[in-house]
Amino acid sequence: MLLQTEVQIIPCFSNLPEKEAELLTIAREAAKCAYAPYSHFKVGAALLLKNGHIVSGNNQENAVYPSGMCAERVALFYAAAQFPDTPIDKIAITAIGNDKEICQPVPPCGNCRQALLEYEIKFKKPIEVIMAGQKGEVYIVKSVSELLPLNFSGSFL
Ligand code: THU
Repeated sequence: MLLQTEVQIIPCFSNLPEKEAELLTIAREAAKCAYAPYSHFKVGAALLLKNGHIVSGNNQENAVYPSGMCAERVALFYAAAQFPDTPIDKIAITAIGNDKEICQPVPPCGNCRQALLEYEIKFKKPIEVIMAGQKGEVYIVKSVSELLPLNFSGSFL
């Protein structure tokens, strides 16, 4: 068995299609407002919903480390709470580094992949994932399931 992930590599921001560029710009704005006093790694995420709404979020850290939350899940859970019946079209993810500029695409962590997958399955609709740093290449993957092959899902329960 060979598991493959197709990644579209966009050379830089200016080569992005309009909607992806808009979403990434909003994710970049969100990253500026992250609360990351411990890691100093400020992440921003923006979701485009099927109804056209855009919901953004950023990481929220805590002195008790596991009590914090990633940017993707802050945005995702807010969207799911506000628009429980609306499928998610795309998510853009980016980050601002502490003492060095981030020049490579920022991927979602494993927990966020699993959380995003839940909604992909719920709505039977792939969620496009746009990953970017502060500059450089942007990666686009057509579906969260491509980022989480051999995944566990509710179908096992
Ligand atoms: N972080 C995110 O917000 N999203 C990810 O996918 C990776 C990590 C946050 C969590 C923590 O606040 C900081 O980045 C360093 O791990």
